[in-house]
Amino acid sequence: MPSPLRLGIAGLGTVGAGVIKIIQRQSALITARTGREVTISAVSARSRDRDRGVRLNDYAWEDDPVTLAKRDDVDVFVELMGGSDGPAKDAVEAAIAAGKDVVTANKALLAIHGQAIAEAAESKGVSVRFEAAVAGGIPCIKALTEGLAGNEITRVMGVMNGTCNYILTRMQSAGLDYQTVFAECEELGYLEADPTLDVGGIDAGHKLAILVAIAFGTQVNFDALNIEGIERITTEDIEQAADMGYRVKLLGVAQKTGRGLDARMTPCLVPDKSPLGQLEGGTNMVVIEGDSVGQIVLRGAGAGEGPTASAVMGDICDLARGLSLPVFGVPATTLQSIEAAGVGAPAPWYLRMTLVDKPGALAKIAAVLGDEGISIDRMRQYGHTSTHAPVLIVTHKAARPALDQAIVAMHGTGVLASEPVAIRIEEV
Ligand code: HSE
Repeated sequence: MPSPLRLGIAGLGTVGAGVIKIIQRQSALITARTGREVTISAVSARSRDRDRGVRLNDYAWEDDPVTLAKRDDVDVFVELMGGSDGPAKDAVEAAIAAGKDVVTANKALLAIHGQAIAEAAESKGVSVRFEAAVAGGIPCIKALTEGLAGNEITRVMGVMNGTCNYILTRMQSAGLDYQTVFAECEELGYLEADPTLDVGGIDAGHKLAILVAIAFGTQVNFDALNIEGIERITTEDIEQAADMGYRVKLLGVAQKTGRGLDARMTPCLVPDKSPLGQLEGGTNMVVIEGDSVGQIVLRGAGAGEGPTASAVMGDICDLARGLSLPVFGVPATTLQSIEAAGVGAPAPWYLRMTLVDKPGALAKIAAVLGDEGISIDRMRQYGHTSTHAPVLIVTHKAARPALDQAIVAMHGTGVLASEPVAIRIEEV
């Protein structure tokens, strides 16, 4: 049997402890499947004394992850610290420079520095693997790079932040407002230390930036994505959308259009009967469409000890088997650069506004939409007061710039009593 694959694990939080538990519990299974023993040489974390519910006595301890990354008895550096810069980046760079393979769960690091890391790794002839960085336990990176390698990918979509999906589905099921559910999430410990990462769409955007690179052969460029969080989604929109047969999701979508790559992480409406529409709570879903395979739907836990450690272990097992692939599926030097995401393909839109209730108000709004070439599919007026009329319009497909123009023109009509809310309806 070949010599053991020796790991150095930096970061002993939930995921790090989970990985060690799997290695201790499933050692025989892993050896049977990979033909090689997987062992841990050394570990590193901020605090040595914390009880992590896992036995660490057999492993050497390093205070400095960079020193750990360079140890002679480490073949694979497993980075589970997190953060786009600082120790995680330093240690990953040191590991690559020292000729070690790297496994990481760090989406922020790859979304920001992925291209430089990939180029460094490939020029050194080492692997960097990161299944756990996108949608936790769902093996979507492996699906794209391996199972679907014979497909031209036409669209990738995903609900990839469990906290946002929890908030949106809870707002709907309990009729609670955003602030109340956000406070609940704080209580439950669902939010990242900086909650903007979750509710601002940044965490999910990092994941989408990585998927885009693999799906479309582009350099990872987080700044090129259009990102919008869920902070402005109201219970009213959730209820009205539900009434019209839709669910609100923080949805990542990437596809090639005639006008460049459309890549965005924004609130969208999806049909309530679709797999995405039926996704409840903190679960993730990744939908991939390829020219030969059609649509596939992957669903599972996007966070948590077991699911995330499962994804890390998948990468470790691949390295134990000797699998070696370019970091983003094709050589890093051949990845196309993208400066900014293109304008999204035309889509139907949900438009909610409150009008001053006077004769001709609705006609003025309809005329503005008509002037911009936007056709109305469905319209309803609901919940009148004596002076105001809330109005809901679902348009036929329209381009975002035309919609923006129409909204500007609506302000000039004198009949708007509130800023219109526009949410894209994604056809899934
Ligand atoms: N905060 C993230 C989520 C965890 O809610 O999905 C995984 O990135």
